[in-house]
Amino acid sequence: MVYLTRVEHFNAAHRLFNKNWDDEKNFSVFGKCSNPNWHGHNYELHVTVKGEPSPDTGYIFNAKALGKIVQETIIDKVDHRNLNLEVDFLKDNFTSAENFAIAIWKELQPHIEQHGAQLHAIKLYETPRIYVEYFG
Ligand code: NI
Repeated sequence: MVYLTRVEHFNAAHRLFNKNWDDEKNFSVFGKCSNPNWHGHNYELHVTVKGEPSPDTGYIFNAKALGKIVQETIIDKVDHRNLNLEVDFLKDNFTSAENFAIAIWKELQPHIEQHGAQLHAIKLYETPRIYVEYFG
């Protein structure tokens, strides 16, 4: 089995808060990420697929095609957006990196399978020093 990773960048705004809590409680749990006027992150998304190299091409997945899928399915919908307000697949969900990674997996998986490969991992950096990984 061979693993292929495509890396993409995007910027987005969000706010972490529990609507059942007051601002004080939200600040105590989520800190600056609970700022009512939003804040942004420079996200880095690593999408890893796995498969066996094709006898016809030597590829497990055409990296350019993978980039196009990630761009159209995810990046175009989240880049320079407000994750809480403008992203359909995060609607009514906490916009934590954890939930975001799971949502990205769900969006991408059907497209990856259409190409005869399997999705292996979503790795999402919210900051250079904090990232989450999801393996389905
Ligand atoms: Ni944040």
